[in-house]
Amino acid sequence: MKQKKDFSIQKTRRKELLDTIKQEHDGIDNSLVMFVAGFENDRTAFWQESSFFYYTGITESATVLTLDFNDKTSLYIPNCGDVREKWIYSPISLTQDNAKQLGVDEVAVLGDQCAGFQLFPFFKAQNYGHIIARLKQLVKDEGTLFTLYPDNEHEYVEQRLVINHLCDFVPELKKHIKDVSPIVASMRRQKDMDEIGKITKAIEIAELAHEAAAQAIQKGMLECEVQASLEYMMVGAESRPSFPSIVATGKNATILHYTQNNAPLQDGQLVVVDIGSVFEGYCSDLTRTYPVSGKFTPRQKELYELVLDVQNYIADLAKPGMYLRSAQHPEQSLHHLAENYFKKYGYEKYFIHGLGHFLGLDVHDVGDISKPLKENDVFTIEPGLYIPEEGIGIRIEDDYWMAKKGCISLSENLPKTVEEIEALAQQNFEDTAAQLPESFNDEDLEH
Ligand code: GLY
Ligand code: MN
Repeated sequence: MKQKKDFSIQKTRRKELLDTIKQEHDGIDNSLVMFVAGFENDRTAFWQESSFFYYTGITESATVLTLDFNDKTSLYIPNCGDVREKWIYSPISLTQDNAKQLGVDEVAVLGDQCAGFQLFPFFKAQNYGHIIARLKQLVKDEGTLFTLYPDNEHEYVEQRLVINHLCDFVPELKKHIKDVSPIVASMRRQKDMDEIGKITKAIEIAELAHEAAAQAIQKGMLECEVQASLEYMMVGAESRPSFPSIVATGKNATILHYTQNNAPLQDGQLVVVDIGSVFEGYCSDLTRTYPVSGKFTPRQKELYELVLDVQNYIADLAKPGMYLRSAQHPEQSLHHLAENYFKKYGYEKYFIHGLGHFLGLDVHDVGDISKPLKENDVFTIEPGLYIPEEGIGIRIEDDYWMAKKGCISLSENLPKTVEEIEALAQQNFEDTAAQLPESFNDEDLEH
């Protein structure tokens, strides 16, 4: 049975976006805001583009949202007829009858009927005919197209390809485009209570997955078997990894985004488990480092406790007004302060990545890390040391919510002292696997 979903938060967000654009830009008559969803492919499960999801709550591919400045909101869907619902699950049918529930004024088709049930980024002009007609009108009326079109190499790649493809059909459109990604980033960066709740659920699932990983770890297991144990917990909780799970033993842990996950665990090694899960679109990202034997060696303990000290030191310092990373303000930059802490012990050259990032609909969420931290930012603090010559990699990562006077750990339930980690690593996987139905059959997690 299809559930009753509420789209009122998205409507409020759209109003705030329009108000901000109105404040920042003159001459917006005849203008449009447009967001384009992502497209499916055969290799990976579809995951809606995050900003599109933030403003619509719609999880279906190849849809388009337009907002005009007379407050008319239109949702365009591929014209696949009845066949689409036979292939693609939608929590709510995207029909004009459901427009009110979806919080939009109109549900319309993008253009002419498609050949199949899907659209692809290099669609034909006629399949997008209705959008193209609106864009031609916008150009004629000297309007502006406010959309996600940043001038860099890495953001909104698929969205920009689609807009460029539309420019093939409406060549003068390019001159009328204004990028709204900075406004969108600053809105998405500030989490409301509903979002904090969802991130917290995503963290709870990752915590259970971590327990399973810790308990599965033992000499002779393959990294992928540990991965299977932890992902079993995620899938059983109606979740999935928020990024490819990292299970890296020994020297493999010195490769930051190691995902090969096929080496056997050996006594005396440390295993970095860096994982996250998703709850209603929101991500968690938690890293722990476990000893294969269930006990740290004195050298491993020394290094592990240094990393943990750095994390605690930074979490105590993190307050509104500090920076995640700012070369201009190194004395208030958490990254630089962490580096200096490692430097006191001569280990700064082994700390080879950024201290943290924002977290939300994306694991590496939008938001400028060189701008001061503010209340309601959610971010990670993840110091690490990577010493290939000793075959040791250590990372400890938790998720934090910035409050008025300092940050609050959202993942404090997950063990991390040497004693706690050793106790956890010495338990059996079956104990945690048996918890799954009880822990995740409760109503809170239904969605
Ligand atoms: N957890 C992976 C990363 O933050 O890059
Ligand atoms: Mn991270």
